[in-house]
Amino acid sequence: MSNSAYRLFHQSCYGLAPLAEASVDALVTDPPYGISYQNHDWDKALPNPQIWADSLRVLKSGAFGLVFSSVKLMHRLMVDLEDSGFLIKDVLFWAYLNGMPKSRDVALDIDKELGVESKIVGHYNYVQGYKKGGADNYYAQNGKPKRAASSDLASRYQGAGLGLKPAYEPIILVQKPLETGLTVAQNLIKHGTGALNLEQTRIPYEPGEGKVGHNPHPLGRVSANLLRTDPFHDGYDKFFAVPKVRQHAEDFNHHPTLKPVELMHHLVKLVSFAGQQVLDPFMGSGSTGVACLPLGRAFVGFELDEAYYAISQQRLGLAAQNAR
Ligand SMILES: C[S@@+](CC[C@H](N)C(=O)[O-])C[C@H]1O[C@@H](n2cnc3c(N)ncnc32)[C@H](O)[C@@H]1O
Repeated sequence: MSNSAYRLFHQSCYGLAPLAEASVDALVTDPPYGISYQNHDWDKALPNPQIWADSLRVLKSGAFGLVFSSVKLMHRLMVDLEDSGFLIKDVLFWAYLNGMPKSRDVALDIDKELGVESKIVGHYNYVQGYKKGGADNYYAQNGKPKRAASSDLASRYQGAGLGLKPAYEPIILVQKPLETGLTVAQNLIKHGTGALNLEQTRIPYEPGEGKVGHNPHPLGRVSANLLRTDPFHDGYDKFFAVPKVRQHAEDFNHHPTLKPVELMHHLVKLVSFAGQQVLDPFMGSGSTGVACLPLGRAFVGFELDEAYYAISQQRLGLAAQNAR
């Protein structure tokens, strides 16, 4: 599907065959993490590194890229990107509140292993999100039994678990090397690439904020490599806040790893300038493209899965209408 502002390909990205060499200004992508997320086949392995060589071919010299990753496999992805010829420039941490801890109480497993029944210490209701009235209302007379270790051995490990609550995702910032022999300024003049768009990604001051540091810039602070889309209310929010953008309700989008539109706006702005073209080889439901259009960036995306591709068509169609 194609429009002057965007091109969507329902095919595997490998080879990026429809794209000419040095024709793309930036890469923003959320590839498979290789962690079998919700047991999806497409997430069973990290992308074949060939896609990073393909991306280098179609990017202009000096172009920047942002590649989402997972805490467990970011090291491998970074090596793949570097081995393919990208420079590793930074790792952004996107912090959020709604990560689900997947740990279990292993003390209860020990009781089970020993053939001892764990004791019931109360009852609770499963709560997703917030409960009116606060934490006291999580507990109930007739809910599910809340258990604790019974045996002496299990009691030593009461509450022991296997992992932390996930609260951030790493996003690797990479760059295709500048054209050999050119300075940043010469590269920008020749190719339009080679610098980050720090001006458009400044974090605005809070209304009435008094202490804004030395030599304040009228548009706000320089965006940091720690980003947050949820407010943390800890007094430091103002340093890391990704500004809100108007979002239209899209009930039809069921992609399991959908990224927030304000985050994608911020990332697209950071690595591109108005009028440039951004590539996402693993576009899913097209979130990178949805962020590109209102910002005046052209978009080119690939998606293998038919259902996700259909969602991306619908979303990009709406984004194009709203951007008019
Ligand atoms: C993590 S998801 C991207 C989700 C996206 N950020 C969103 O907000 O909708 C990665 C996507 O890559 C797609 N994919 C996997 N292998 C692919 C390939 N070889 N070519 C194109 N797409 C592929 C999967 O179907 C999946 O939708």
